[in-house]
Amino acid sequence: MTRIRKAIFPVAGLGTRFLPATKAMPKEMLPIVDRPLIQHVVDEARQAGIEHFIFVTGRNKSVIEDHFDRQFELELTLMERGKKTELALLSEDLPEAGTVSFTRQQSPLGLGHAVWCARELVGHEPFALLLPDVLVQHSRGCLAQMIDAAQNLDGSANILAVEKVPKERVHMYGVVGVGERKGKAFAITKMVEKPKASEAPSDLTITGRYILQPQIFELLEKQAAGAGGEIQLTDAMLALSRSQPFYGLEFEGHSFDCGSKIGFLAANVAYGLERADIAPELRIALRRLLADE
Ligand code: G1P
Repeated sequence: MTRIRKAIFPVAGLGTRFLPATKAMPKEMLPIVDRPLIQHVVDEARQAGIEHFIFVTGRNKSVIEDHFDRQFELELTLMERGKKTELALLSEDLPEAGTVSFTRQQSPLGLGHAVWCARELVGHEPFALLLPDVLVQHSRGCLAQMIDAAQNLDGSANILAVEKVPKERVHMYGVVGVGERKGKAFAITKMVEKPKASEAPSDLTITGRYILQPQIFELLEKQAAGAGGEIQLTDAMLALSRSQPFYGLEFEGHSFDCGSKIGFLAANVAYGLERADIAPELRIALRRLLADE
């Protein structure tokens, strides 16, 4: 498969599930331990070799742009105070100049429309799409695992990260039908966005990481509104699957739906427990809290 150089991050969502925290702050900037959610997702893309980061933003999201820029006054103050570790952390997180682009989704018409808004920035090459609500905790990030799997698939393949969820939760996701295995991946036979449990083709749901071919943009342009009255990426992918292969990859690692309060809190605990500087004390604090219940 052609090298995947570009990634889209749709960050235009209103974050209503986190009000009032998200009244003045984008949900993508909520911290998982001490780094914004979006930074964790950008890190995953960098680990997978992504070179160009495309953010589809909306109103009240300019602080995301500021986060991926230098903060001259802060850097100066840290330098004057000899805070070398903090300074190094800031520059580590920063993508190289000229590798970040922002475009706006002017109306909240759905995920499919948000992706379509990035078409000019992506151009005619396969690309990655990472939904920032989802975090996958594993030493080899989810997108890197997908790119590894792509080596054994043909060049026009589209690849979706999938995971099993309990039957009673499938209606919250895009769900795929399972065909023949090919290495670690399997052919996708069907895709349905937010089906009733009784109509879901399996219990494997789309987890928010995609490798897509650029022909998806032509289909998104014509895509009518689907589930929830929104232009759904899943519907355009189903249309594309008539002319191009789609594969599912059950990735390794633990996923967190940080768009939900429980997922967000669990991610904070899990990422905290992975940090050598925090884990010992966090463990004691958690044990104490649970014992008091
Ligand atoms: C979106 C996709 C859905 C996918 C989900 C993963 O839904 O449309 O197919 O399963 O992300 O988080 P949303 O969460 O935006 O409703």
